[in-house]
Amino acid sequence: MKKRSINFGFLILGLLAFAFLPSCYYDNEEDLYPSPPACDTTNITYSATVWPIISESCTSCHSGSGAGGGVLLTNHAEVADACNNGRLLGAIRHESGYSPMPKAQAKMSDCDIKKIELWVADGTPDN
Ligand code: HEC
Repeated sequence: MKKRSINFGFLILGLLAFAFLPSCYYDNEEDLYPSPPACDTTNITYSATVWPIISESCTSCHSGSGAGGGVLLTNHAEVADACNNGRLLGAIRHESGYSPMPKAQAKMSDCDIKKIELWVADGTPDN
């Protein structure tokens, strides 16, 4: 009777160890490799999605007579032009053959690039 209760105690310990070890492992993995915040690509429009990104990161150098590379990015028609000739996407994706943009700054987030790509794929609507 006595021996049996000791074995039962070990059994419970063993089960607890199995129950907790995996959760420790997954907790650590999340700390080490946090998943990136989700990229919301629903309801993409020029006015609410694309223009805020361009005006924040690009228009300071791409307006007026001294616009970088002669590329103007101050309104829908100008942004759509730069997208439709392929230069804007080439530049923000840092593709070879294009000057990487935003110039001398960190590459834009994958999420912002994705949003602009989707707007271009949608036909650069003025919405
Ligand atoms: C600090 C100033 C600056 C910022 C910020 C900037 N640009 Fe530029 N951009 C330039 C200059 C200057 C050029 C001319 C080429 C060169 O000198 O690299 C240029 C060139 C370009 C070109 C033509 C590239 C080619 O190879 O044909 C595009 C398209 C462009 N920029 C888009 C953008 C976009 C989109 C942003 C925002 C994400 C941006 N730029 C931010 C200064 C800037």
